[in-house]
Amino acid sequence: MTNPRIAIVFGSDSDWPVMERCVKQLQAFDVQPLVEVMSAHRNPDRVCEFARQAETNGIEVIIAAAGMSNALAGAVAAHTCLPVIGIPLVSGSLQGFDALLSTIQMPPGIPVACVSVGAPGATNAALLAIQILARHDDRLGEAYRVFKSEQARKVETKNDALQKKIQK
Ligand code: RP5
Repeated sequence: MTNPRIAIVFGSDSDWPVMERCVKQLQAFDVQPLVEVMSAHRNPDRVCEFARQAETNGIEVIIAAAGMSNALAGAVAAHTCLPVIGIPLVSGSLQGFDALLSTIQMPPGIPVACVSVGAPGATNAALLAIQILARHDDRLGEAYRVFKSEQARKVETKNDALQKKIQK
């Protein structure tokens, strides 16, 4: 088994039902990520240690997700030169709005690429990570092109079915 090139970290095991989508989307491209729960607030030392060692450990892209007052993506980005993709998760009274603001409001100098809030973001983070790896991985580049054309074909099939229904 090859070493993971993508790491997925998230703030709590309660995030797993959404973050499982991210893992499955990567696995659909035959990419097995490193997956770990860690919290910028609850065990910040582990976050720091992980982010500092990630590049040495062969990781190329880090996906970081958290709900309430999401600080994880920014905290990871502070300690690594790797690209970091942040997913604001839906959690708590503000239903992800707080996580969205903290993810998109990074100060200049510490970039975090923010994807959609919640489940769509979990899917898109995986796809964005694949796109990044595909710049120097021909197999993934071809797999991504196939994914895009299949996605387009599915929409066309749905449209054809709708047209038939309307014409009845
Ligand atoms: C965040 O707080 C986690 O990422 C999670 O979305 C939220 C609630 O965590 P738990 O109280 O369920 O562990 O840090």
